[in-house]
Amino acid sequence: MSAPIRLAKASQVVEGSPAVVGKDVLELLSTAMYVDPLTIYREYVQNAADAIDQARAGGHDAGRIAIVLDAAARTASIRDDGAGIPASDFRRVLTSVGASAKRGTEARGFRGVGRLSGLAYARSLSFQSRAAGEARVSTMTWNCQALRTALRDTADTRDLAAIIDAITTTTITDEAGDPYFEVRLEGVARQGDDRVMSPGAVADYLSEIAPVPLDTSFSHGAAIAERLGGTVALGDLTITINGGEPVMRPFRDELPVDGGRPLRLREIAFVEVPSIDGGIAAVGWIAHHDYEGAIHPSTHVRGLRVRAGDVQVGEAGVLADVFPESRFDAWTVGEVHVLDARIVPNGRRDDFERNVHLANLKNHLAPLGRDVANRCRTSSRDRKRLRDLELEQAAAREGLAVLAQGGLNAAGRDRMALGVELSLMRAEKLLGEPDLVDGSNSGDRGEVARLRSELEQLAGADAPAASPLDRLSPDRREFYEEMFSLIYDCSANRSAAKSLVDRIMAKVA
Ligand SMILES: Nc1ncnc2c1ncn2[C@@H]1O[C@H](COP(=O)(O)OP(=O)(O)OP(=O)(O)O)[C@@H](O)[C@H]1O
Ligand SMILES: [Mg+2]
Repeated sequence: MSAPIRLAKASQVVEGSPAVVGKDVLELLSTAMYVDPLTIYREYVQNAADAIDQARAGGHDAGRIAIVLDAAARTASIRDDGAGIPASDFRRVLTSVGASAKRGTEARGFRGVGRLSGLAYARSLSFQSRAAGEARVSTMTWNCQALRTALRDTADTRDLAAIIDAITTTTITDEAGDPYFEVRLEGVARQGDDRVMSPGAVADYLSEIAPVPLDTSFSHGAAIAERLGGTVALGDLTITINGGEPVMRPFRDELPVDGGRPLRLREIAFVEVPSIDGGIAAVGWIAHHDYEGAIHPSTHVRGLRVRAGDVQVGEAGVLADVFPESRFDAWTVGEVHVLDARIVPNGRRDDFERNVHLANLKNHLAPLGRDVANRCRTSSRDRKRLRDLELEQAAAREGLAVLAQGGLNAAGRDRMALGVELSLMRAEKLLGEPDLVDGSNSGDRGEVARLRSELEQLAGADAPAASPLDRLSPDRREFYEEMFSLIYDCSANRSAAKSLVDRIMAKVA
C-alpha cells in the first residue's frame, strides 16, 4: 500500500492528502523549469553529493558516482555510493514535492524538487536505493508518459497527490549489500544534438559544474587548494561515465582553442568577500592570461563562475554585472565559491535570488572586475599599437623602395621622402609609448632605425641615387619623371604602382 503523499510549499509539510495542489505545479517543476536537458545531471549529481556527505559524516567511505549512458537503448543511469534512503522513508521522501528535509542544513539541495527534472526527458524515471545497514532494496518508478497524459488531459480533475499516486509504483525486495542510490531514465527523448546521451558532452558539462577535483596537471591547482581548502569544501568526487577516466575540472595551464592560439593560464589572484555582518561571504580566484579577447567556449573555462557547495550555479554570465562592461566576463577565467547561505540559488539554479547579500557580493567583486577590464583594454590597445606600428613600417619600406627605384623628379622625391619621414616618426612615437607588450618591440626599434638610415642615404645626399633614367635625354627624362609622379599620385596601391613603373623603366631605359 502506498504511504500518504506529502505536499508542501517551502518548509511547510502537509501530511496526508487534504491539500489540493493543482497538477500544473508538477508541470512547472518538471518540464518548464529546466531549459537545458543536461541540467538533469547536475540535479542527480548534486543529490549524490549530498548523500555522499551524509555517508561520510556517518564515518563511511563514499565518493563515487558512476554514470552509464546507452544511446542505442536510450537509457541513462546515475549511481552513487552515498547513504541511500531507508526503505521505511523511501516512498514518502520520493513522492514529496517541495518538502526537502535538507532545508536549513549544510546540504546543497533544499527545495525538494530537483530529482523530478528527469520527468521531462524520459518515458520512465526510476529511483532505487539500499540504505546503509539495511538488507532491502527499494525501487520506485514514475511513468512519465502516463504523467504527461494526465497533465495534458483537461478533463482529468485529479489533484497532484492523486496523480503521483497513480503513476508511481514502489517495490521493496530483500537483498543485502553496500548502500547506494541509483536514478535510471528509460526511453530518453532525443532532443536537438542529443547531448544528454553523449558521454563526451556529459563529461564536459560535469567538468564545469560538478564537485570534482582540479586536474593534477594544472600547476596552480595546489595553490588554489591550499588557499581555499580551509574555507571551502572543494569537491573530490570520482565521477565516471561509461567506465571512463574520472571527470576533472577543466582548468589546465594551457587549454587548446579550436582553430586558434591556446589559452595559457599564467597567474592566480585570490579574492575574499566579507559578508555584511562580519563572516566570509565568498572566496574565489581569477586566472590571469594574455587577455587576447573573449575566451573560446570550447575551453569550458569562459566567464567568472559561481559555485555553492562546489556545484556551479548558472553558467558564465551570472556575475557579468561586476565588470564595467559585461562583455569582459567572457574574457575572464575564475570562480567564486559562495559561503554565505543567505546568497541563495534560484529555483532553476541558473542565477541567484536578488537580495542585499548578493548585492554585497557583487559590490566587493567590482574592483576585481575593473582590474580585469583594465587588463583587457591594455592588451587590446597594445595589439592595436603593434598593428599600427607594422603598417607604418610597411609604408616606410614601400616609400624607400620607390626612392631607390630612381624614377621620380626632385619634387616627387621630396614628397615621397616626406611621406617616409612621417611614417617613421609615427612608428617612433608608437615605440616610445610606455607599456607596449614586453620584449616585443626591441626588434621593431632596430628595424625603424635601419629604415631611417636608409632614408638618410636615399634622400639626404645632395645628389640623387643613380637611376636607370640617367641614360635618357633631359627632356625625355623629365617627361618620364612627371609621368611616374602622376602614377604614384593617382594610384591607391603604391606597390602595384611601383611594379608598373618598374616595368615601364625596364622598357624605356
Ligand atoms: N542520491 C540520493 N541519495 C540519497 N537520497 C536522495 C538521493 N537523491 C535524492 N534523495 C532524497 O530525495 C530527496 C528529494 O530530492 P530532490 O532533489 O528532489 O530535492 P532536494 O535535493 O532535497 O532539493 P533540491 O530540489 O534543491 O534539489 C532529497 O532531499 C533526499 O532526501
Ligand atoms: Mg536535489
